[in-house]
Amino acid sequence: MIETIKALTEAFGPSGREDKIRNLIIEMIKDHVDGYNVDKIGNLIAWKGEGGEPVLFVSHMDEIGIVITNEIEEGFYRIEPVGGMSPYSALSRRFIFEDGTIGVVSVEHETFEDYKKALSNMTFDNLYLDTMGKKMKIGTFGVYMSSFYESGDLMMSKAMDDRSGAAVLVELVKKLKNPKRKFYVAFSIQEEVGLVGASVVAYPVDVSEAIAIDVTDSADTPKAFKRVPMKLGKGPAIKVKDKMSISDKRIVDKLVEVAEKEEIPYQMEVLIFGGTDAAALMKTKDGIPSATVSIPTRYIHTPSEVVSKKDFENTVKLLSAYVQRV
Ligand code: CO
Ligand code: ZN
Repeated sequence: MIETIKALTEAFGPSGREDKIRNLIIEMIKDHVDGYNVDKIGNLIAWKGEGGEPVLFVSHMDEIGIVITNEIEEGFYRIEPVGGMSPYSALSRRFIFEDGTIGVVSVEHETFEDYKKALSNMTFDNLYLDTMGKKMKIGTFGVYMSSFYESGDLMMSKAMDDRSGAAVLVELVKKLKNPKRKFYVAFSIQEEVGLVGASVVAYPVDVSEAIAIDVTDSADTPKAFKRVPMKLGKGPAIKVKDKMSISDKRIVDKLVEVAEKEEIPYQMEVLIFGGTDAAALMKTKDGIPSATVSIPTRYIHTPSEVVSKKDFENTVKLLSAYVQRV
């Protein structure tokens, strides 16, 4: 399980460049599912079991990143975020690119006054990438260069958003040897730039409900956001709403019922910002009732996203009990 999360989070796969991460996931699941398919835009969907009311689980496989926009001078490039990356999270970080280039992001300043100004109001306009002389093509994608680390119950890596969700689905297909009903696991593309993959991923399948598995914010650090109730280690968060959609109440109620019955710790989530693939799933085809199960996370969209092993395990347990519920 830890190995799965390590391998998935360390893999390369910014939005729009999901080939490597998709191939890795296929390797991990192919012997544990009844079949799988990659659709025309690159979503991966696999299925297992027979009969019942089929359920679809979706995790996005892309991660945030950056892309080269233009050359400033040889070895120095302007960059643009791919998905929600703050310029403050990019500053002084190493990035690794699809062509193998490694570079560091820094900020322009000619005077101390400039520097102070740049730091107080940082934008991608005054950041640049230094490739140590290496020539790069415009449109090359990169991600944070960051490695997996664990300590006690906590794990730290880039791309826990949403490779921890992808790892949940990998573990789910391994764990459910004889599922009581058919279920699908989908790994969507380009969630971070607007829920792109999830908007069409369900077209080839006939499902009566869908659940997105994604990370959510937590407030268990000093002076954290007061209106966020989620904490690491207190169980998967059953999402009531976020900024983009309201979970289908019937699914929320069933998730709570299953968690209570199986004595799986859980927490309720009302997020005052953000959105997940569930928002796209609700609006696809003729409407699929959808909800989200979230993994509480610290420092989302930074190179050091932190999640709890217990929460991860309990998320796998919750979803497998959900499939087995008859
Ligand atoms: Co995200
Ligand atoms: Zn996400």
